[in-house]
Amino acid sequence: MDWGMKNRLSKIIKAKDNRTLMLAVDHGYFMGPTTGLEQMDKSIVPLMPYADTLMLTRGALRNYIPPESETPIVLRVSGGTSILNENLLHEGIIASMEEAVRLNVAGVAFSILVGASFERDTLLAFTEIVDEAESLGIPVVAVTAVGKDMVRDARYMSLASRMAAELGAHIVKTYYVEGFENVVDTCPVPVVIAGGKKIEELECLKMAYNALEAGAVGVDMGRNIFQAENPIAMIQAVRSIVHEKATPEEAYQLLSKKRGKWSR
Ligand code: 5RP
Repeated sequence: MDWGMKNRLSKIIKAKDNRTLMLAVDHGYFMGPTTGLEQMDKSIVPLMPYADTLMLTRGALRNYIPPESETPIVLRVSGGTSILNENLLHEGIIASMEEAVRLNVAGVAFSILVGASFERDTLLAFTEIVDEAESLGIPVVAVTAVGKDMVRDARYMSLASRMAAELGAHIVKTYYVEGFENVVDTCPVPVVIAGGKKIEELECLKMAYNALEAGAVGVDMGRNIFQAENPIAMIQAVRSIVHEKATPEEAYQLLSKKRGKWSR
């Protein structure tokens, strides 16, 4: 692994504690202006100081994020279907690696859908990106998306995460499930968890804590932060778990204390 790849990886997973809090705000590529992302310059920019990276599309980056920002960027490079499409997540390449270099990103993210009838399309497109990313020294985050009629269990997440790693992913983003330690133990690259749909804040903090306890290096969380009652307080609470060894209860106390400090 050359210096450039290591340097970019260190912008995502921090060397001081081998942890990361990635803020995922790429949802517009298939959900449009979903709640909390209506005007990202107003809702997301204030969260950036608390995030280790920002994951988003090239359009959101160019139109909402100041170019002088210091938060490392992970560029979403797969897409092509919307929430209106019955084959949601039948994704292909939506941004080139040349564009990733032009945007000076720390990494790229690509969703694969293992088990779908079109899994081959997503997996082969993923490996095209990995080939070029390797030649450029840019890490690839594989997002193991889960179709709505698929069972979210450790067996499935282990299959999808290990396939992603075998095909060349440098980081795997998957979902926290019962028996998550098996998912991490059988994946040879660092694992982060998505937050998934918005859930009760203490439950979300427990999920992040349990994932880290099971060996994940962090989170790549979106809706549970930017759809929270107080997103700044919530990202700080998540950060306390990821980087300050807080328990879920301590993080929730921090959240409650700060809740009144920032109102949406
Ligand atoms: C799509 C995604 C989402 O765009 C996003 O990255 C997930 O973040 P969260 O579930 O925490 O809102 O990964 O497959």
